[in-house]
Amino acid sequence: MKHLPSRGKKQTMKVIRSIKAMSGFSSEAAAGRKIGFVPTMGALHAGHVSLIRKARRDNDAVVVSVFINPLQFGPSEDFRRYPRDHASDAGICRAEGVDVLFCPSAQEMYGPGFRTFVEVKGMSDVLCGRSRPGHFRGVATVVLKLFNIVSPRTAYFGAKDAQQAAVIKRMTADLNLPVRIEVLPIVRGPGGIALSSRNAYLGDNQKEQALCLFRSLREAARLVEAGERRSSRIKESMRRIISGCPQAETDYIEIVDPRTMKTLKSIGGGKCLVALAVRVGGIRLIDNVTLDVK
Ligand code: PAJ
Repeated sequence: MKHLPSRGKKQTMKVIRSIKAMSGFSSEAAAGRKIGFVPTMGALHAGHVSLIRKARRDNDAVVVSVFINPLQFGPSEDFRRYPRDHASDAGICRAEGVDVLFCPSAQEMYGPGFRTFVEVKGMSDVLCGRSRPGHFRGVATVVLKLFNIVSPRTAYFGAKDAQQAAVIKRMTADLNLPVRIEVLPIVRGPGGIALSSRNAYLGDNQKEQALCLFRSLREAARLVEAGERRSSRIKESMRRIISGCPQAETDYIEIVDPRTMKTLKSIGGGKCLVALAVRVGGIRLIDNVTLDVK
């Protein structure tokens, strides 16, 4: 992504790598000032920028973390080749008026003897959690650690990872964390593709095929609009669209309660989350839409 022009306010951004220095900044900043926090794994794009801009608008100080969290990757997943571009990430954060870019090391985050994990039961082993065992335990654990280090007033997450946002909200409520969680809409690219750091793995033909995720979600919305309430019928139509793409292979298509992630056999009487994961040329992509059905 191109660096965006500076937004007026001239200031220097700190790049902090040690946990002690990060906590130090937060306790100094805490004197009556609101810290807005955007946790990321880097390779920043317009989806991340939408969270940073909201944090900038609503807080006195903005902290963005870039940490590719080894704990949330399975043994056969893409931890090693996950895109890393510190110069680009720092440029984007600087242009967006971020105060601190926090880039801790895995050695310091998970020092010798590390043994404590956070598990949000019942919500972590469905949808993405089923094909990525341990993933949400890794996410919840790192996010709790980051909250403790950064001490934000508000933390910003994207609806792109709807299950992640629900897990974090549940953890925050269950553990009485003094952090507000804000979830912002999915930012999409041409043809409706949900922006993702993993899109960088896709070739041109695969990018074209990846549009089937959004197309299938649009079809779900259309069917619901036309009065369909049976989840099985909606999922069937979505599956047909995906199977029309030769390089796409469905991991899951689910319709669930957006807060609990419990499967809904039929929809109506409130919000439902239509979520899917599809491998396109071996790259696992996710997308979703929330429908409000009276
Ligand atoms: P990452 O994939 O870098 O995403 C960081 C944040 O950006 C997440 O809240 C994600 O939902 C949001 N985001 C990504 N793509 C988006 C899009 N197209 N539109 C809107 N928001 C988008 O999610 C993680 O990192 C990690 O799991 C993390 C929470 C940092 C814990 O390690």
